[in-house]
Amino acid sequence: MRASHFSEMELANLAKWLLLGLFILCVQIHGNNGCFEVERLGLLDLKASIGSDGFDADHPFSSWVDDSLSDCCKWERVTCNFTTGHVIDLSLNNLRQYEENIWFLNLSMFESFKELRSLNLSHNRFGGLIDEKGFDGLKKLEILDLSDNYFNNSNFSSLAALPSLTTLILSRNNMKGSFPSKGMFIHIHSPIRLII
Ligand SMILES: *[C@@H]1O[C@H](CO)[C@@H](O)[C@H](O)[C@H]1NC(C)=O
Ligand SMILES: *[C@@H]1O[C@H](CO)[C@@H](O)[C@H](O)[C@H]1NC(C)=O
Ligand SMILES: *[C@@H]1O[C@H](CO)[C@@H](O)[C@H](O)[C@H]1NC(C)=O
Ligand SMILES: *[C@@H]1O[C@H](CO)[C@@H](O)[C@H](O)[C@H]1NC(C)=O
Ligand SMILES: *[C@@H]1O[C@H](CO)[C@@H](O)[C@H](O)[C@H]1NC(C)=O
Repeated sequence: MRASHFSEMELANLAKWLLLGLFILCVQIHGNNGCFEVERLGLLDLKASIGSDGFDADHPFSSWVDDSLSDCCKWERVTCNFTTGHVIDLSLNNLRQYEENIWFLNLSMFESFKELRSLNLSHNRFGGLIDEKGFDGLKKLEILDLSDNYFNNSNFSSLAALPSLTTLILSRNNMKGSFPSKGMFIHIHSPIRLII
């Protein structure tokens, strides 16, 4: 009797440890309660980059906190696919409405978001693109909104690296002359909806 009582307790203890182990495993698999670590770090890099020249990035990104337990899918301006947990939409519009200086968009900031479908960079006083190879990662990007900026048509050749692009919005920029240049979207298979 006595011996079996102890083994029951041992069994209960074992079950407790097993449950704890399972719980820890689940937390690790789900990482940060849902969002992928590489994307969480990518978002924090993006925030740092946008804040790098004295701009207060905590204003547009107050929920983007450097806490490994924070689920980046719940951050403002971020949408994840509910099933896969990958970031699929970034609404990075209206980041700088109070700032006077024109700045440049470093495309390398988007390398971590391989599943991104839609990117809104509208209304940001961007004057141009730098590090254009950064678009190489965005194989699934379908919608790119660059409206209400200061882009001119000097060089948009990097857009050709976006094979899934279906909609490009460039209204209210400084586009002059002929755009797109001949053959620019030759790599894009589907017909692209261009809004200038
Ligand atoms: C989310 O991902 C799943 C699996 O890849 C896909 O079937 C679904 O259409 C996606 N949903 C959205 C809203 O993109
Ligand atoms: C663009 O961002 C990448 C990655 O953050 C960085 O390595 C690179 O130096 C930046 N380019 C410029 C021109 O600032
Ligand atoms: C991007 O954001 C602007 C607000 O600045 C909004 O008017 C526009 O509809 C958004 N674009 C897309 C493609 O959702
Ligand atoms: C386009 O903008 C870039 C950066 O502001 C500038 O260096 C270039 O001269 C402009 N080109 C035209 C044709 O306006
Ligand atoms: C446009 O940019 C690409 C790569 O950034 C460069 O190879 C090309 O020479 C540029 N074209 C012009 C007309 O400046």
